[in-house]
Amino acid sequence: MMRPEGLPAESKIVLGAFDDGQLVAVVDLLRGFPNEHTAFIGLLEVHSHHQGRGYGGSTYGLVQRYVESTWPEVRTMRLAVVDTNAQVATGFWQRQGFQPTGEVRPYRYDKLESSARLYEKQLPEQSRS
Ligand SMILES: CC(C)(COP(=O)(O)OP(=O)(O)OC[C@H]1O[C@@H](n2cnc3c(N)ncnc32)[C@H](O)[C@@H]1OP(=O)(O)O)[C@@H](O)C(=O)NCCC(=O)NCCS
Repeated sequence: MMRPEGLPAESKIVLGAFDDGQLVAVVDLLRGFPNEHTAFIGLLEVHSHHQGRGYGGSTYGLVQRYVESTWPEVRTMRLAVVDTNAQVATGFWQRQGFQPTGEVRPYRYDKLESSARLYEKQLPEQSRS
């Protein structure tokens, strides 16, 4: 349910990736955040029993295909990696073609205080025709 202030409810979707009817990954996705040409991945999580077997990469591929085919105004995929999760997530996102923007934001969730580093990937031009 959580989303940035001012973003309408219909701009947030949660997608599931299934293999043979079994849920293996979830994705939290925002349309038009922080601007109309950007989709923000709030979370991509593979079930702990299924990590390291290619599901994360193939789930991201499906997410990108979904954005390219249903949100034609989006040119950039964006996400934040929290420093406490950097060892797990940074290599994965770079493997999917994301690069650091250089922006660093304070991150607070419950009792955790850390920093989040922003990453972006430009979508290919032909996917928006
Ligand atoms: C991060 C996460 C999504 C990766 O999913 P996964 O199914 O384990 O990853 P895959 O097996 O699909 O790996 C895809 C590619 O990324 C690479 N990769 C994965 N984790 C990596 C890491 N920590 N460092 C370097 N490369 C990594 C893999 O080697 C693989 O490369 P390949 O395409 O050459 O084979 C998964 O571990 C996860 O859900 N972690 C907990 C939640 C989380 O941290 N999500 C990300 C922040 S939103």
